[in-house]
Amino acid sequence: MALNEAKLNDFMGRFVGDLGAVMHAATIVVGDQLGLYKGLAEGPSDVETLARRTETDPRYLREWLSAQAASGYVEYDPVTRQFSLSEEQAFALAEEGSPAFIPGAFQIAVAQFKAIPKMARVMRSGLGLGWHEHDTALFHGTERFFRPGYVANLVSNWIPKLDGVEARLQAGARVADVGCGHGASTIIMAQAFPKSDFVGFDYHEPSIEHARRAATEAGVADRVHFEVARAQDFPGNSYDLVAVFDCLHDMGDPVGAAAHVRASLKPDGTWLIVEPFANDRLEDNLNPVGRVFYSASTFICTPASRSQEVGACLGAQAGEARLRDVVTQGGFSRFRRATETPFNLVLEARP
Ligand SMILES: C[S@@+](CC[C@H](N)C(=O)[O-])C[C@H]1O[C@@H](n2cnc3c(N)ncnc32)[C@H](O)[C@@H]1O
Repeated sequence: MALNEAKLNDFMGRFVGDLGAVMHAATIVVGDQLGLYKGLAEGPSDVETLARRTETDPRYLREWLSAQAASGYVEYDPVTRQFSLSEEQAFALAEEGSPAFIPGAFQIAVAQFKAIPKMARVMRSGLGLGWHEHDTALFHGTERFFRPGYVANLVSNWIPKLDGVEARLQAGARVADVGCGHGASTIIMAQAFPKSDFVGFDYHEPSIEHARRAATEAGVADRVHFEVARAQDFPGNSYDLVAVFDCLHDMGDPVGAAAHVRASLKPDGTWLIVEPFANDRLEDNLNPVGRVFYSASTFICTPASRSQEVGACLGAQAGEARLRDVVTQGGFSRFRRATETPFNLVLEARP
């Protein structure tokens, strides 16, 4: 069969871009860890100045800065030989908590790479790989990558799109955040709605311990608490709102979780389900966002579900139709897409 040279060249061009991105990812993680982006955000610098500012070795730093410039992550002025961050680069790389802050995403990639040996084993055996079995980079990376989206959207955009929920939270409501991880979403809601009581549940004990410390640091420990519990049997009832952020598809038994959420809600309560954005058909998810999610789903979400009872393996690209099925099987009678972002589906279920 004759090779189509033009197609091969196209593919190799794509490969060079991809390889550059993968190799560059490690430099982002180390730059973030050492505060190099934050140091450069203080002002344009030559290598020596930034090395002094960040207490790093100038020769290594020159190579790192060159890699950043080649990747478009910093600007380089050949006349002054200075490196700098544009406003936009600083916003995304140096401003912890900005809505566009991205270094956390690359910590997730680190965890994926570290999981390769385990993943190779489970892909043969069909066994699971629990969330808790990953490197801690996954837990910190997830929090840092997801938090900016919650800060930007949760209180100002998502909650107001739910039927009557904002008013109830303002007046004082009981809220459970299930699968809360490090508790970023729980704490953001608690800060916005001081009259409401919040409890965050997650089966992963180290995440719950982290969430408790974060609540204390944020000054909301009086109205938020965190407990180790599973989605399918967390304690409490008569909740006005139960929320699940980016975790329903990670669960082994999402239908069991749905049924338990249904039982724990007041009759007029609301279940907020935030899931990765996905269309219903594979062919409609074959795009850059789908690429990120399917890759993470292969290493993280699908084996996490497989590691638990039932092992439903919804995957991170389940899509609205599949999620509706889960929610309906759990006993909910109303289900709708409240809103969406390029990264998230925001779904509302009512008993
Ligand atoms: C992708 S993380 C999302 C964490 C958090 N909601 C956030 O948005 O930052 C998925 C979380 O689901 C939790 N999880 C998975 N299965 C669970 C289950 N059956 N019950 C409770 N938590 C679960 C994991 O421990 C993990 O913290």
